Amino acid sequence: MSDGNWQMICGDADIEEGAMLPIEIGDLQIAVYRVGGEIFATDNVCTHGFALLTDGILEDDVVECPLHGGMFNIKSGKALCEPVDCDVRTYRTRRVDDRVEVLLDS
Ligand code: FES
Repeated sequence: MSDGNWQMICGDADIEEGAMLPIEIGDLQIAVYRVGGEIFATDNVCTHGFALLTDGILEDDVVECPLHGGMFNIKSGKALCEPVDCDVRTYRTRRVDDRVEVLLDS
């Protein structure tokens, strides 16, 4: 049985602690983060307008959108403050050897 649609998105060494990386897979734009040694992933497009979260600011586990300052928790996707009121989608991640993979819909 398949364990799901895991897709490699980058090498483990491609993203430093406290950094973000924009990734495109087909039509999907995904933001990858490394915080506390762990890898997280969300949709990269803000739920309020068209802005890439990876162009914003990452502080601990909160990313701030560059356009209007909306904030999301990168672990839960939760929208934290005005003007964003819709959570951002999160993706499961895993590291396999020196690769980082995200779980996409099949
Ligand atoms: S586009 Fe992100 S807060 Fe407005």
